[in-house]
Amino acid sequence: MADKRKENFAIECVGITKRFGSVLANDHIDLQVRNGEVLALLGENGSGKTTLMNMLSGIYHPDEGSIFVNGEEAVINSPTDASELGIGMIHQHFKLVDVFSAMENIVLGTKEKYEKPAVLEEKINAICDKFGLEIDARKKVYNMSVSEKQTVEILKVLYRGANVLILDEPTAVLTPQETEKLFRILRNMKAQGNAVIIITHKLNEVLEISDRVTILRKGQSIDTVETKDCDANQLTELMVGRPVSLEIERPIMDEVGTILSCKNVTIKKADGTIGVRNLNFDMKTGEILGVAGVAGSGQKELCEGIAGLLKAECGEIHYEGKNIVGKTPEEIINLGISMSFVPEDRLGMGLVASMGMVENMLLKTYKKGKGPFLVRKPARSLAEKLVKKLGIVTSSVDTPVRFMSGGNVQKVLLGREIESNPKVLITAYPVRGLDINSSYTIYDLLNEQKKKDVAVLYVGEDLDVLLELCDRILVLCHGEITGIVDAEETTKEEIGLMMTGESVKKEA
Ligand SMILES: Nc1ncnc2c1ncn2[C@@H]1O[C@H](COP(=O)(O)OP(=O)(O)O)[C@@H](O)[C@H]1O
Ligand SMILES: [Mg+2]
Repeated sequence: MADKRKENFAIECVGITKRFGSVLANDHIDLQVRNGEVLALLGENGSGKTTLMNMLSGIYHPDEGSIFVNGEEAVINSPTDASELGIGMIHQHFKLVDVFSAMENIVLGTKEKYEKPAVLEEKINAICDKFGLEIDARKKVYNMSVSEKQTVEILKVLYRGANVLILDEPTAVLTPQETEKLFRILRNMKAQGNAVIIITHKLNEVLEISDRVTILRKGQSIDTVETKDCDANQLTELMVGRPVSLEIERPIMDEVGTILSCKNVTIKKADGTIGVRNLNFDMKTGEILGVAGVAGSGQKELCEGIAGLLKAECGEIHYEGKNIVGKTPEEIINLGISMSFVPEDRLGMGLVASMGMVENMLLKTYKKGKGPFLVRKPARSLAEKLVKKLGIVTSSVDTPVRFMSGGNVQKVLLGREIESNPKVLITAYPVRGLDINSSYTIYDLLNEQKKKDVAVLYVGEDLDVLLELCDRILVLCHGEITGIVDAEETTKEEIGLMMTGESVKKEA
């Protein structure tokens, strides 16, 4: 194998294979990254990206194949081995100690942790200066934003002398401005001869930041291309295996009317602190109203408040002219308001994992039945209809939901909400973690609802999608609305500013 290699790469994987039981997660993958370049790793959900990177960072060990670091074959049995070889990985889920400061987290587990704080701080500042990072070394992690935590994670690996930086979907949780800041750091790293591997589903980011792209499909490396020679459509085709249209449709409805309005609504979180304050907005039939905001800006309370899971402290929520504050969740569902929320960890989505689709359909619809008995037949035909309509992959409609992949579970969830024929459909993060193909199926579903005059509230993370799919976008920051803008008349930058609190006094 080694004789086939022509160049000393920062990292070279040759024939890497990894199985989990019967799943072939990586199938003889070859991958190279040079010093001084950014390599993007692209692939649909489940194509094996994280698994491959976890082998470089010593979390998993390959079943077959070799890894070379600067031309030398390396054995990476632990994250410590990886760190000693100069490989550092920023995982999707951060691994920081909340009660520690930035500095304590950065030096944790190194030999220097007993040094004087001033010495450590100086060393950290030197790294910050070198790569253009900004951090308050004494700030506790529990007081930090997602972006600050990510900076600490990056500093942690740079402090250990990493010259190969691996980032697994680092921008999923960042504002556009924070993403730009991260990209500046990555460019600095590259300019100083380091290697960067970045995983992201956002094609515009791949095109902006990477020098080359390696595409994985079903555990295999399909191709590696020079970024400057390709566009988003070509990358998608390589990833999916056939051409896919990247246009998100935005049907224009001639008549829209207000169906739900929040008037001065304040809702507390379960812990008694304020979740959202003084909300004023309308939802209209035949419209998709987007909600943008940094994670945890009140999105959850907004959705749960309308659905009756949390009670508004003050203010009124008018639905078809009547105040629904104080009604039970069941009453609100029966009035025609449906809500689904995909949490960050994508667990606890309101489906019962041990039950099959049929049982999960029953959970939502039986209350509408007339007698005391559950009628299983309609639920079964509904489940079967959803499988066909949404291309849900499952061996049977009775297979427990927990054996289905995340994308398929999310389709079941949304499909179930839609089949209850709501007039108001509230959906939060329905494409969270989904690849392009599954995401587009969901956008189509939402547009279908809009065309049926349903008022849709779409809480999302990806600003490009919000801008294309929605008619208007409501921006939340620290539980308050900082703007409601017409999607066609605003920009990503403007929304990014509102997300961090720049109030734009503009009503769409
Ligand atoms: N620890 C694990 N145990 C069992 N299966 C796993 C494990 N990790 C990943 N897989 C499976 O391996 C495949 C590749 O997963 P992953 O590397 O996470 O994909 P990606 O990061 O591209 O979304 C998937 O089918 C996934 O279900
Ligand atoms: Mg992954």
